[in-house]
Formats: sequence, C-alpha cells, structure tokens
Amino acid sequence: MTLQKLLQIEAELRKAYFERDEEVHGSIVALLARQHVLLLGPPGTAKSQLVEDLCARIGGNYFSWLLTKFSTPEELFGPISLKALEQDKYTRIITGKLPEAHIAFIDEVWKGSSSILNTLLRIVNERKFDNNGAPVKVPLQSLFGASNELPESGELSALYDRFLLRFMTQYIASPQNFVNMLASQPSLRIP
Ligand SMILES: Nc1ncnc2c1ncn2[C@@H]1O[C@H](COP(=O)(O)OP(=O)(O)OP(=O)(O)O)[C@@H](O)[C@H]1O
Ligand SMILES: [Mg+2]
Repeated sequence: MTLQKLLQIEAELRKAYFERDEEVHGSIVALLARQHVLLLGPPGTAKSQLVEDLCARIGGNYFSWLLTKFSTPEELFGPISLKALEQDKYTRIITGKLPEAHIAFIDEVWKGSSSILNTLLRIVNERKFDNNGAPVKVPLQSLFGASNELPESGELSALYDRFLLRFMTQYIASPQNFVNMLASQPSLRIP
C-alpha cells in the first residue's frame, strides 16, 4: 500500500469520526511503524467502529475478536488438529486465525485468560507463535486493542507495555459535533 493511499484513508476517517484526529493519525503511524495501538475509553466512544473501519480499508489478512473471560485459545489461535494428534503432535490449525493475520483487533483485550495473554504477548513482541514446539513467524503488522478500563493485575502490565501508542477516547465534547454524529448514523436517519 502506498503512502498516498494511507493518507487518503486517514483523511476519510478524520471526516467520518468526530474529535478522533489523534486516534486516526496514531493508527496510521502505527501501521507504518509496525507498532501496536491501544484505545482506552468509556462505552460508545467509537473505539471498535474506528478500528474495524480502518482495518476494512487496509486489506490483507484481518483478524478481529472480542475476548471474554471464557474465551479459549482455539478462538484466537485455531483448533488442535486431530490428524496431527493421532501422531502425538499438538498442532493448531491456524488458517484464518491470529497467527496468519497482518492486522488484528482484539476487543476487551484484558479479559483473556493468562494462557491467551501470554501467547498474545509473544506474538506482538517477537512476532512468533509456538506450534507444536516449533516457533512460526507471524506476519503481524499491527495489533489494535480496545478496552473500557486499564489492566487491573500486574500480570497484564507486560502486554500493556507493548502497546506503544495509547489513546484515551472521550465522548464527543462539542454539542454541534454530537448532533452531526447522530445525523451521520444511517440507522438513526429519519426516512
Ligand atoms: N466521535 C465519533 N465520531 C463518529 N461516530 C461516533 C463517535 N463516537 C461514537 N460514534 C458512534 O457510536 C457508535 C458506537 O461506537 P463503538 O461501538 O465503536 O463504541 P466503543 O467505544 O467500541 O464502545 P464499547 O466500549 O461499548 O465497545 C458507533 O456507531 C460510532 O459510529
Ligand atoms: Mg467496542
């Protein structure tokens, strides 16, 4: 993707999202610098929408997942291959999952179990994923994370640290921008 195309995407997103210039610019910079972005803020401040919108325009393999405390590693890293298991190998089928993604979005990023978060840490840090003991290189360019809150336990601070760009999203401050945002929502348009 050319720089010109990226700048065009930035201009489009700045127009579509009110008072989100820093987040949009930071995300574009992160993509260029192969860095990771964290969006922290209250519900309904366009965190998910903005990232989904950006990633849809970038192309490449995109993986997006909402973590809950019940999420299993299969959801992010793929199911265990039963064929391989017959040969005593513990291999995941990573097709379409995070280890194959160029861009990824993990919503509610602190909610995962420690085994998920540790594997995630290795992926963002070293861009490697262990499959049956063999580290596989992952093509990840940037990981976007979103959450309503800061990580609670110290265990999560290593992952928090890897998000070099962090933005605190706030509700739209200007009343006029708020009205314009409502008017721009297709689902709220009066026929
Ligand atoms: N600044 C803004 N500009 C444009 N649209 C906005 C803005 N803030 C909120 N919205 C709209 O509000 C809706 C909710 O946004 P979204 O679901 O992305 O919020 P969120 O921050 O991810 O919330 P949650 O923390 O609950 O997941 C979207 O339709 C989005 O377009
Ligand atoms: Mg969200």
